Amino acid sequence: MARVRLVAGNWKMHGSRASIQALLDALLQGIPRSGNCAVTVCVPFPYLGQVAEMLRGGPIAWGAQNVSEHQQGAYTGEVSAAMLAEFGCRHAIVGHSERRQLYGETDAQVAAKFAAAGTAGLTPILCVGETLQERDAGRTEEVVGRQLGKVLEKNSFENAILAYEPVWAIGTGRNATPEQVQTVHAFLRGKVSSDTPILYGGSVKPQNAAAIFAMPDVDGGLIGGASLVAKDFLAIVEALNT
Ligand code: PGA
Repeated sequence: MARVRLVAGNWKMHGSRASIQALLDALLQGIPRSGNCAVTVCVPFPYLGQVAEMLRGGPIAWGAQNVSEHQQGAYTGEVSAAMLAEFGCRHAIVGHSERRQLYGETDAQVAAKFAAAGTAGLTPILCVGETLQERDAGRTEEVVGRQLGKVLEKNSFENAILAYEPVWAIGTGRNATPEQVQTVHAFLRGKVSSDTPILYGGSVKPQNAAAIFAMPDVDGGLIGGASLVAKDFLAIVEALNT
């Protein structure tokens, strides 16, 4: 079976009602009517209702950037996977490096979030990636292997997506080369089923997307900054479609 190819936008903490309306209008206008790749946008929680209303029944799926590991209860400020499902989310990003680094999420917590998303019928997008220091110390495979391994201890990776996001390439404009990406993807490929989509994320732009997507173990991209600019995001979708 051919692996799903996917371009996922990660809007992070950006946007307003007005800017989201304009961005989604432009994406819906420009999205290719036929093509072999799926498209999703992972949006800030308060806008899920607006996004669901605009995208329902159309070619673009949507999801969240984080999810609680708990089902319900006294967890002030948290959002459960069931709540996301009720707003039509298909995907939930878990273990993004910003969550790991800025909010102290541990491998065990990320694994629990992954499980919670799956239980509610969402498809988790699990992010793994090394820091520059870890790469320079030759520890890339050890780090991404550990991050993924914790999830695999208690979960199947059947209905899930993996994203390799080297921390040093996120939001920095500094690119991993297609060869660097392919090496890590091939390593990760050996640990999940052969039909698991593996996305690359980290400063993917219209200029470098095609070269990265041409690598045999790259099935698409997780796009931060460029997902906020309709023409850039559409150009990246186009690069995967061709
Ligand atoms: P970037 O972000 O494309 O802005 O580097 C990617 C990500 O954090 O998912």
